[in-house]
Amino acid sequence: MSVVNGGPTPSLAGRSVLVTGVSGGIGSALAKVLGREGAFVVGTYRSRAAEARAVLEAAAPDRHALLEADITSGASARELWDRANAIRPVDTVVLNAAVMMRTPLQGPVAEWDDGWEASMTVNAVAPAALMRQAAHDLAERSGGSIIVISSWAAEQGSRLPEASAYAASKAAVRNFAQTLARDVARRGVRVYTIAPGVVDTGMGTQGLSTEQQSSVAEGLTMGRHVAAAEIAELAAFLATDRTPSLTGATLDLNGASYIR
Ligand SMILES: NC(=O)c1ccc[n+]([C@@H]2O[C@H](COP(=O)([O-])OP(=O)(O)OC[C@H]3O[C@@H](n4cnc5c(N)ncnc54)[C@H](OP(=O)(O)O)[C@@H]3O)[C@@H](O)[C@H]2O)c1
Repeated sequence: MSVVNGGPTPSLAGRSVLVTGVSGGIGSALAKVLGREGAFVVGTYRSRAAEARAVLEAAAPDRHALLEADITSGASARELWDRANAIRPVDTVVLNAAVMMRTPLQGPVAEWDDGWEASMTVNAVAPAALMRQAAHDLAERSGGSIIVISSWAAEQGSRLPEASAYAASKAAVRNFAQTLARDVARRGVRVYTIAPGVVDTGMGTQGLSTEQQSSVAEGLTMGRHVAAAEIAELAAFLATDRTPSLTGATLDLNGASYIR
């Protein structure tokens, strides 16, 4: 919040943000904080409609729209962009939706092939197509922001051998964000990448018992996971465009577990 004329004004009042994957752990936190900051939130889900609806109704009761989107190609990503803009012109996009498919280095090659294909398509090919279209359209309007949720795995490979394709896909989308940031820097479009470490929800905890999650936390430098709310607070700040010279940057959010 900023204080204007003696009263609190939400920092994103009047803004319109497309967030992919609000049915997931981090997407839910993103919707909550962006909604709190006054944005109109267009949220997407792939399979968990009820969860996504509940998230948006709590986050921005009278300022949201919900879209079903299975983003598995460039064409489906561009179609999503068009559907969101038909509701209301979007000025900020948060590319959050992703999959973590198993691609073990040993085992059936079919699992390997399918996992690489899906990881690269959902996590890199489709987001890149959406970013390309969004950058083009935002530049034609008065500018805007594109925020990519990547991962620390993009910088150093995965510590889990079965997540090799996931890490590579996160590196691919981060890398494209850098190229795009340079290309649109003079046209009012900012492109930021957030690279979280292990988060306290979603992919960071799913499939793990409470004891296993505690063990993971113990191995992290701060002795705890990154809170999803921290990612959301950072994204909301970036969306305000208060520091446009950060465009092109990758912002590490990993509690000093990995310092470049
Ligand atoms: N959690 C972590 O520790 C961590 C760490 C670093 C980076 N990240 C990144 O943070 C982002 C969110 O992760 P999360 O942990 O919140 O994961 P999550 O809880 O599994 O949520 C993933 C979201 O993506 C959506 N999605 C999956 N496949 C899709 C597709 N084909 N088309 C459209 N939407 C699709 C899901 O929709 P449905 O649920 O409706 O199917 C869900 O909303 C991801 O980009 C991830 O790589 C996570």
